[in-house]
Amino acid sequence: MTVANDRFLRALERKPVDVTPVWMMRQAGRYLPEYRAVRKRAGDFMSLCRNPQLACEVALQPLERYAFDAAILFSDILTIPDAMGLGLHFTEGEGPGFRKTIRSPADVEALPAIDARDDLGYVMDAVSLIRRELNGRAPLIGFSGSPWTLATYMIEGSGSKDFRRAKQFMYDHPEAGHLLLGKLADAVTDYLNAQIRAGAQAVQIFDTWGGILSTSAYLEFSLAYMRRIVDGLIGERQGRTVPCILFTKQGGLWLEEIAASGCHCVGLDWTVDIGHARSRIGHKTALQGNMDPSVLYAAPEVIRREVAAILRSYGSGPGHVFNLGHGITPGVDPEHVAVFVDAVHEYSAAGHR
Ligand code: CP3
Repeated sequence: MTVANDRFLRALERKPVDVTPVWMMRQAGRYLPEYRAVRKRAGDFMSLCRNPQLACEVALQPLERYAFDAAILFSDILTIPDAMGLGLHFTEGEGPGFRKTIRSPADVEALPAIDARDDLGYVMDAVSLIRRELNGRAPLIGFSGSPWTLATYMIEGSGSKDFRRAKQFMYDHPEAGHLLLGKLADAVTDYLNAQIRAGAQAVQIFDTWGGILSTSAYLEFSLAYMRRIVDGLIGERQGRTVPCILFTKQGGLWLEEIAASGCHCVGLDWTVDIGHARSRIGHKTALQGNMDPSVLYAAPEVIRREVAAILRSYGSGPGHVFNLGHGITPGVDPEHVAVFVDAVHEYSAAGHR
């Protein structure tokens, strides 16, 4: 199947494009009334993820409304620990939680390996359906959490302010910690490759909590395992590169190390100046980002000004995928997203002539 709009894939390969491609982390979600309606129909969030038809419907909703250059699979990063038997649940207003947690080396030993195609078949069904329904309109992104980020939730049992338990586990039980991260790296590699076989044309690894670590702990517990995943990914399918994006939130200190992982693109949060990031690593990888998601609460002229400032900082030429520096938050006016997307396309054209 050809991709009619492939500027997202071209930008990841640092090939020329007509305008800078744009998509948004969490682009399908609670800020959209049509998303809230489908979630209500599904009953709860996990039932929505487990229903390929409904997951496909919400994945396509943002592309119906906006000129996005990529779609992302609708699912969650916590499907892997759920498939390992931890019992994921979402409580309204409280975020994710697990019925079972990892609290000892014995818990790590007991953790089963998974087969993504069998144990997470509902995700692969959603991927194939979304790809079919997109019909070339835009490429489809698959995703996973990083081993470290998954481990934080598995050890804490939920989100956390300081991740005290997760960090303590790595310091007290480094051997069991590495066993856990290794098991997760194998599962993530299998999971992403299964998504690629099912039709994902690029993949992103969300390392949401890598940035809470010291430099040496980040390199040892997070980046080393993401590198292992990148090494094991299907690099090309149906004659086309399958690019991989690594996004470590608050990873600005380690851009050179992340860029040396073998990934095609480094995702930037909003704390980094993108022009500075380009001069550090733009000769090695593409860059994705990085507008502060809170700008979307501001007036349209402020949104346009911020988009223009990021484009100016990046400078002319290819290799930039425009995005937010993290996911869009609930409560943003959907009209403001249209202003954001249109501004990226309108203002970036001059830099690609
Ligand atoms: O980007 C996309 O549109 C694809 C879908 C996607 C979701 N979660 C849907 C979702 C992706 C890529 C994720 C990743 C994810 N999930 C991460 C990493 C990225 C990031 O944002 O840092 C993390 C840490 C999670 C775990 C998770 N899932 C949290 C913390 C929450 C929020 C809980 C809450 O109530 O605020 C979720 C739920 C979730 N995942 C929602 C969506 C649309 C909201 C569920 C709802 O209430 O409808």
